Amino acid sequence: MQLKIYKDYQSLSDAAATEITELVKNKPNAVICLASGETPRLTCKLLVEKVKKEKVDLSHITFIGLDEWVGIPPDNDGSCHYFFQNEIFKPLHFSASQTNLFDAMSGNLEEECKKIDSIIVENGGIDLMLVGIGMNGHIGFNEPGVSFDYYAHVIDLDDTTVSVGQKYFKTTATLKEGITLGLKHLQESKKVLLLANGAKKAGVIKKTVEGEITNEFPASIMQTHPNGFVMIDKEAAALLENK
Ligand code: F6R
Repeated sequence: MQLKIYKDYQSLSDAAATEITELVKNKPNAVICLASGETPRLTCKLLVEKVKKEKVDLSHITFIGLDEWVGIPPDNDGSCHYFFQNEIFKPLHFSASQTNLFDAMSGNLEEECKKIDSIIVENGGIDLMLVGIGMNGHIGFNEPGVSFDYYAHVIDLDDTTVSVGQKYFKTTATLKEGITLGLKHLQESKKVLLLANGAKKAGVIKKTVEGEITNEFPASIMQTHPNGFVMIDKEAAALLENK
């Protein structure tokens, strides 16, 4: 794992967007997995700008959504679906056939997990996974205590995730379970970028980078990834001893 500290959120997001465009220039049929949420929002905006400016062809990539809130419909503006549709798919004119998101309204969530696992295998594995970090150290919905060996799975949400998650919704949402790629996917991804910005993430970044590697703090798995990058701004780096 490598640590990269940027002067601010803008330059961090710019670097992350560049990672994506450079990957696609070198590998037009790359498999890319993104998280939704506040952290990658600017990366997505800058990605859209770069793709248009540099005329990068994204029509051959396979897009995988990292996770979704179980029971939250795709037209709810707090859903991960809604985020991807508006931040990426619509502005970049992605075709439906290249986007793969969990259907969290499905009556058979086990089948949804198998479907996404298979798509990843059939397309040769994930080339780039871009993730955020929750206030409990989760990645995707890999909550504290989760096995490092899971692929896609359904999981009970941690209390912190349920309360912090309300920030995405206009009215109080019933959040109980998540459907998510697993940490086995992260370990097998050819490259992983974990992004964090702002002082509120300084504590979880310290644990991620300098803490014990334990499934009680899932993001600590980043320390084991040979091609993992923790990309943070100065505020999120504030508590690190070695920087
Ligand atoms: C969202 C996701 C979550 C978030 C994390 C940080 O798809 O997978 O794990 O990345 O909760 O969220 P923000 O970026 O809103 O602080």
